[in-house]
Amino acid sequence: MGKPCALAFFLLLFVNCALSWKKEEFRTCNQTPFCKRARSRNPGFCSLIATDISISDGDLVAKLTPKENIENQENKPLILTVSAYQDGVLRFKIDEDQSLSPRKKRFEVPDVIVPEFLNKKLWLQRLTEEKNENGMGSLSVVYLSDEYEGVIRHDPFELYVRESGRNGKRIMSLNSNGLFDFEQLREKKEENEDWEERFRSHTDTRPYGPQSISFDVSFYDADFVYGIPEHATSLALKPTKGPGVEDSEPYRLFNLDVFEGSSGFFWLNAAEMQIDVLGRGWNDEYLMLPSDQKRIDTLWMSEAGVVDAFFFVGPGPKDVVQQYTSVTGTPALPQLFATAYHQCRWNYRDEEDVYNVDSKFDEHDIPYDVLWLDIEHTDGKKYFTWDRMLFPNPEEMQKKLAAKGRHMVTIVDPHIKRDESYYIHKEASQKGYYVRAGTGKDFDGWCWPGSSSYLDVVNPEIRSWWADKFSYGNYVGSTPSLYIWNDMNEPSVFNGPEVSMPRDALHYGDVEHRELHNAYGYYFHMATADGLLKRGEGKDRPFVLSRAFFPGSQRYGAVWTGDNTAEWEHLRVSVPMILTLGLTGISFSGADIGGFFGNPDTELLVRWYQLGAFYPFFRGHAHHDTKRREPWLFGERYTELMREAIHTRYMLLPYFYTLFREANETGTPIARPLWMEFPADEKTFGNDEAFMVGNSLLVQGIYTQGAKHTSVYLPGDELWYDLKTGTSYEGGTTHVLEVSEDSIPSFQRAGTIVPRKDRFRRSSTQMENDPYTLVIALNSSMAAEGELYVDDGKSFEFKQGGYIHRRFTFFNGKLTSSNMAPNTAGQNKFASDCTVERVILLGLSPKPNNAIIEPANHKVDIDLGPVLLRGGTTPSALTIRKPNVRISDDWTIKIL
Ligand code: NOJ
Repeated sequence: MGKPCALAFFLLLFVNCALSWKKEEFRTCNQTPFCKRARSRNPGFCSLIATDISISDGDLVAKLTPKENIENQENKPLILTVSAYQDGVLRFKIDEDQSLSPRKKRFEVPDVIVPEFLNKKLWLQRLTEEKNENGMGSLSVVYLSDEYEGVIRHDPFELYVRESGRNGKRIMSLNSNGLFDFEQLREKKEENEDWEERFRSHTDTRPYGPQSISFDVSFYDADFVYGIPEHATSLALKPTKGPGVEDSEPYRLFNLDVFEGSSGFFWLNAAEMQIDVLGRGWNDEYLMLPSDQKRIDTLWMSEAGVVDAFFFVGPGPKDVVQQYTSVTGTPALPQLFATAYHQCRWNYRDEEDVYNVDSKFDEHDIPYDVLWLDIEHTDGKKYFTWDRMLFPNPEEMQKKLAAKGRHMVTIVDPHIKRDESYYIHKEASQKGYYVRAGTGKDFDGWCWPGSSSYLDVVNPEIRSWWADKFSYGNYVGSTPSLYIWNDMNEPSVFNGPEVSMPRDALHYGDVEHRELHNAYGYYFHMATADGLLKRGEGKDRPFVLSRAFFPGSQRYGAVWTGDNTAEWEHLRVSVPMILTLGLTGISFSGADIGGFFGNPDTELLVRWYQLGAFYPFFRGHAHHDTKRREPWLFGERYTELMREAIHTRYMLLPYFYTLFREANETGTPIARPLWMEFPADEKTFGNDEAFMVGNSLLVQGIYTQGAKHTSVYLPGDELWYDLKTGTSYEGGTTHVLEVSEDSIPSFQRAGTIVPRKDRFRRSSTQMENDPYTLVIALNSSMAAEGELYVDDGKSFEFKQGGYIHRRFTFFNGKLTSSNMAPNTAGQNKFASDCTVERVILLGLSPKPNNAIIEPANHKVDIDLGPVLLRGGTTPSALTIRKPNVRISDDWTIKIL
């Protein structure tokens, strides 16, 4: 059915502000000169033509020259380079011509594109010339893959990807509406508003004049675009400009990627970015575009940098994510503990508080894996220190938690207290490691500790120095069970413009902050993760949670969606936010359970735990002004409900961990929009209240108080089985379901097998040797399949084959376990004696009585049992008890 939908995904760094900070502290597009200028241009504005087109070093190279006023000094020709990469990725760069000695080299973001991607370059050899569709003007065509090619229209300049062949359909294009503009660096000749910009009480200098870039990108056959986690109230993006669209702001980004249903677009640029999604008919008078293909047009505007952009051809949504993560890297595989439940609060006051919270979890039979300490644990917000009055024995404290298989996380922010007695500050200032103000002095801004400076982590030497600070010797009081939380790394500067750093601050290589703002937090995250890696001599997988992120952040750890509020609406928007992050490769994300600000009522808190148990990153967190809200504080009934929600996550940990590995290998997110699994089902395109966890589970949050019923759309034409009761529901239908307080609607898709661990312990670590339950949900062909990935949950041995990866297949009345791991030498490095203790069969009829286990050839009974061991469900599911086959072995269970 062609291309049913368009996906857009946009990354945003300023995650904490969108939901809760004061609007007037942030600029609108009209108050942002580059955005205002770009938005006011009309279609056809661009007068560039492509000339001197040739193949050089395997790339297509061309000049983009203004058609008129070629003499104009400020409009020198630009250089366009187009490169093709394996798997359908077309990259293009546009920059000033270095041979014409521009005032300086504009900033290109290093360290994001993974080296393996560069090795996938296809060496272009041939340029085919063609006449334009209307027979007028010329096109140059290059090979991209057997199915697609890249096309450059010379006059006016346009770049697009089309299906191969003269009449091939367009997939996506650049500058089809003639909005391309590239402000070249200038010498100051006269005093005017080009050389500085003001906002509220702040003035930023612009020593190179305006240097923004803007252009239009069109997505063909597109019905929907998706993206921008922190701003979207819905997953599908609404137009921001066009007929019938009330004039609204563009989506404001610090970085962004767009994906179209079966194709995608990504602009690697670290400056402030704004994007308009242009409503149909926005350019009706402009007749340059083919009218036989529907389109969604978008306008991309960035304050600085260069054009370094990528078209991804898909063809499926998962292909697009895979192509995108082939450029920016796939997510790191976290340690197992990090995929379990985290308990955070600003602040757990002192050691006594920590011990008390820790023991209450045990007392109430609630598992948890990580206890977090926020800024107050430090001595005066000096990171790597402890307030020794409150935390006299941090090592002992961590060891006591570790004895139960638990971990601790402490916060380490990038602002450094300007205190001469603080060793980090002393060293950093002596070595000149701080970001400099436009004046050349160390930038001094206000943050938690008061007067602070910010490490220039863009510099690799400084990152390495920072990473060393995490060694056990340097970070006194740290132990191997301690991991790190990076906050305020946008960077947040309380007295700076828009609560951040002035744009004229200077980084390594004299790069202005305006050129790399969005990448600052990424570099800090990277340096911290490297620190944990170094600390463990490269053997221990780091865990670092970061608030700011950028393309590539997925390689360094988890992110969360920033400061939300204890409101139902914030519970609801957490889903599109997390889904969008997953589309941008950042699969390990979550929202603060319960809402950071404010006090959730018990019902909201319970609903949040029930939904959060399915977030990839599952952490309860709260502001210091809120009432305590640990799960046992609301009476036994509510403790029970929150316990059940957390237990659900622990039970599903084997499934989640298998998905984390899939993300690590392919980039495919853990939490997925329904359309990622059902791209042909149009009813899924606008749905952002439900989501898939992997390919097997569908979860629908409850987002209103006192809900008695909810509508759940179950896609596809197979059945779905209620996770709790095993009751089946038809696919392709919206069901109106009764809602109970004890769970949110969640289903297993027919045709899948989900591995679980049903015995409940204090932490994930303690579950290591527990046996598995396999839940088999049969489809209409009485078949199902699933996977299980297991490794030591900690080290990098998996990279050398130290893991077990099984495929379970049910077909023809037989459940078979087979090896999915390649037969490499290292494969036996990881051994497990874990067995399968239960197999639950959903949808099998008529009821069989026994099964035979091969190769051992022993017979086992099939009885009715509960779908969940806890939660009080009636025994209604066919259950094979104690087949006791080992998960590392090949075996077959034959139903008799
Ligand atoms: C802001 C963060 O978003 C929040 O999670 C944290 O608790 C506070 N900073 C204090 O560190």
